[in-house]
Amino acid sequence: MSIAYLNGEFLPLEQARISPLDRGFLFGDGIYEYIPSYDGKLVGFRLHIERLQRGLVELKIELPRSVDQWREVFEEVIARNGGGHQSLYLHISRGADNKREHGYPKGIEPTVFILATVIDPPQVADPALARTYKVSTKQDLRWGRCHIKSTALLGNIMHKQSSIEDGCDEALLYNELEEITEGASSNVVVVKDGKLATPMLDNQVLPGITRSVLLDILAKYTQRGIEQRVITLTEVRKADEVWMTSSSKDIVPVIELDGKQVGHGKPGPIWQEIMKLFAKHRFDY
Ligand code: PDD
Repeated sequence: MSIAYLNGEFLPLEQARISPLDRGFLFGDGIYEYIPSYDGKLVGFRLHIERLQRGLVELKIELPRSVDQWREVFEEVIARNGGGHQSLYLHISRGADNKREHGYPKGIEPTVFILATVIDPPQVADPALARTYKVSTKQDLRWGRCHIKSTALLGNIMHKQSSIEDGCDEALLYNELEEITEGASSNVVVVKDGKLATPMLDNQVLPGITRSVLLDILAKYTQRGIEQRVITLTEVRKADEVWMTSSSKDIVPVIELDGKQVGHGKPGPIWQEIMKLFAKHRFDY
C-alpha cells in the first residue's frame, strides 16, 4: 500500500482525505510538480522546487519552505515506500474555505499532498529498447498562462485524450499562427540536418525541467547548440527527428507524426547520442 503525505502527515493513501470545499477540487486552484526518482534518487529536485516556488508566487499562495525542507519530506516519502523507481507527485492547492467564492480567501492553509507511484526504469539510449511515441498535431486550445504548472489541466487532458483516440501517445500543439508550442504533457525538440531547435519559453509553454536539463547537457558536453525560437508546423513535418521531453518520459523519440514516419520511423542517431549523455548526467541535477 502506497504511503502518501498530506498536510504534515505520512499515511496510507487510502486514508488520505480532503474537504470537498478544497479549492483544488472546486477551481483547480493549485500547482503541482511531478518528480521522478530512480533507485531512490530524485532527478532535478532543486529545479522542480524552484519552479514550484515561482508558481506559488504567481498564485499568491504563501508556503515558505526551503529546497532542503522539501527534500527532507520527499526523501521520507521515498523511504516509506521502499525506494526503487518512484514518481513523486506534489500537489499544492490554496486550501479549503467554508464557502465557494472565486476570489482568494484570506487565512486558509494550503493543502499539500504528495503521492508516490511505482514507475518503469528510466529511458535507455538504445533504439531497440527505447520508449517511442506516435503523435498527432492539434491546435492548442489551452489558456494563455501555460508557463504556470497549474493543476487545472482540462485543456491538456482533452488534447491528450483526442490524440489517444487517434491511436497516438501524445498531442503536439500549435497556435493560431501554426507555430509549435509543446505537447499536452511534454516539451518538444526538432532536429534537421544535425541542427537542434526547441520553441522558446513564453506564456504558451511550460518551462520543462527535462528541457532545461537537456539544454544544459548540450551546452556542457557537446558542440551542438540548440536554438530556442519559433518552430512552424511545416518545419516539424519536415524534421529528421522529433523528440518529446518530460520528467515522466525523459527524451522520447517520435517515430510517427499524423500517421507519417518521422525520419526513418525509428529513434534517430542524434537522439541516441544525446540520450546517452542524458542517461549519464541526469542525477547531476
Ligand atoms: N508534465 N509541458 C507540459 C504541458 C507538461 O505537462 C509537462 C510535464 C512538460 C514537461 O515538463 P517537465 O520536464 O518538467 O516534466 C511540458 C508532467 C510530467 C505531468 O503532467 O505529469
